Amino acid sequence: MKINWTKEKIDQTKSDLLVVPFGLGGENSAYKAVVKLTGKKLGELAEAEGFNGQEDRTLIWQGRVKKRLLWILVIGMGKGYVGPSAWRNAIARAIGFATRHRLKSLAVFVDSADAERQVNEVRWTTEALILGAYRFQKYKSRVAKPGTPKQGEVGVFKQAIDEAACRKAVRQAKAAAAGVVMARDLVNEPANVLSPDELTKRALAMAEKKGLECTISNKEEIAGLGMNLFLAVAQGSARDPYLIHLVYRPKGKVTRKVVFVGKGITFDSGGLCIKPGKSMYDMKTDMAGAGAVLGIMSSLRALGPRVEVHGIIPATDNAINGNATRPGDVVKSLAGITVEILNTDAEGRLILADALTYAEKLKPDAIIDHATLTGACVVALGAQTAGLFSPSNEEAKHYLNGAKQAGELFWRLPLTKELNRDLRSDVADVKNIGNRSGGAITAALFLRRFVKKTPWIHLDIAGPARADRATPACPKGGTGFGVLSALEYLSTF
Ligand code: BES
Ligand code: ZN
Ligand code: ZN
Repeated sequence: MKINWTKEKIDQTKSDLLVVPFGLGGENSAYKAVVKLTGKKLGELAEAEGFNGQEDRTLIWQGRVKKRLLWILVIGMGKGYVGPSAWRNAIARAIGFATRHRLKSLAVFVDSADAERQVNEVRWTTEALILGAYRFQKYKSRVAKPGTPKQGEVGVFKQAIDEAACRKAVRQAKAAAAGVVMARDLVNEPANVLSPDELTKRALAMAEKKGLECTISNKEEIAGLGMNLFLAVAQGSARDPYLIHLVYRPKGKVTRKVVFVGKGITFDSGGLCIKPGKSMYDMKTDMAGAGAVLGIMSSLRALGPRVEVHGIIPATDNAINGNATRPGDVVKSLAGITVEILNTDAEGRLILADALTYAEKLKPDAIIDHATLTGACVVALGAQTAGLFSPSNEEAKHYLNGAKQAGELFWRLPLTKELNRDLRSDVADVKNIGNRSGGAITAALFLRRFVKKTPWIHLDIAGPARADRATPACPKGGTGFGVLSALEYLSTF
């Protein structure tokens, strides 16, 4: 969908559909203006339907305005403050509406008297239109025509208080949403197509297009580096692993250096500790951490944060052949720590451990990993919320602030040190599983051993990386979770 900032007045729109938000108890001047446009008919309709801006309700009118057929959609925003996520989902309902009625273009006029709020509403609206129009249909032989609307306009009713800031918000929202779309596409791609090799090719193509450095290490080079835990996971697969290393260098002064690490398991069969069928269905999404990192990296050139950003992705299948790692195998990590691999399905932490050691060698100010790491985290927090672990209060707070701005749900979980005993191995320095209880925490504690001194955040995105149910702003499947929060976080340095 193509989105433009518009300066046109609400009664001049050439779009097929005019969209205005309506809040309970607000001034709602845009609403009043569209009521006028309809010769008060919309007002009568609102009265008849008992509509006064309730959340989840809409008001629809179709008729002639200045001799031209126009649809009007008024979206109830409910009472009080509407945050980024609720705003996006409310506005994105316009996409479903336009699609059902085969409307090709729409214009949304936000309506706030506050300068900062205006800019935010413009930004969230732009994101809502792009994300709400997202579909993954490349393998559908018959695609519904005409599909989602092609053209969107975003404007401010009456006038923008800071027009330059609004234009910038549209531009930035487009870049950020494009990052989310990239992550969704990667997660939705089936594993037969998205091999470690293909993931690597997509990273290279993106880096080329966006002016990033991209270095790839193949299996021999990974072995040369000493990333034996990564290799232990990869050795059971006929498809070769790759280590992807992307770098964004800002044009001007650099104020900080951050490394993002993403779990890139292109398919998680569980290995010899094979998953039951039902748990395996979704496991093409086990590279969602990698997808988030690639999505983040792809947006940076357009957003221009003053941060040197690295993206590290260990990409491999967790498969089974005659050479697959056996439960009980002992492997020496890049950090020199020996690991008893008791469960081959706890593979994410193995490839991440070596990737974290690799990341720390870059001497960054912070390391942030994204990983669909544990089912236990989904049990603890539900499918909408990611677990955040960090030994650094300061870093955690900073990140959570960004996440709040982005409207993504995170909940900080503890690195309970008493649970370290669960990771004790009889034969090696550590084993790769704990007990059933506290599974998300023991996974985080395992990772923690591989970050010596750098401020570090571990994000367990096993729940929110994928949606089982569609919302207006996101169809079923990959969500691109994590991209918006990371971009907000980076924008604060
Ligand atoms: N990729 C899974 C975690 C996962 C589960 C992601 C559900 C998304 C949805 C991970 O590799 C895994 O299998 N973890 C095990 C760990 C256990 C063996 C200690 C789990 O969560 O059961
Ligand atoms: Zn697994
Ligand atoms: Zn996994």
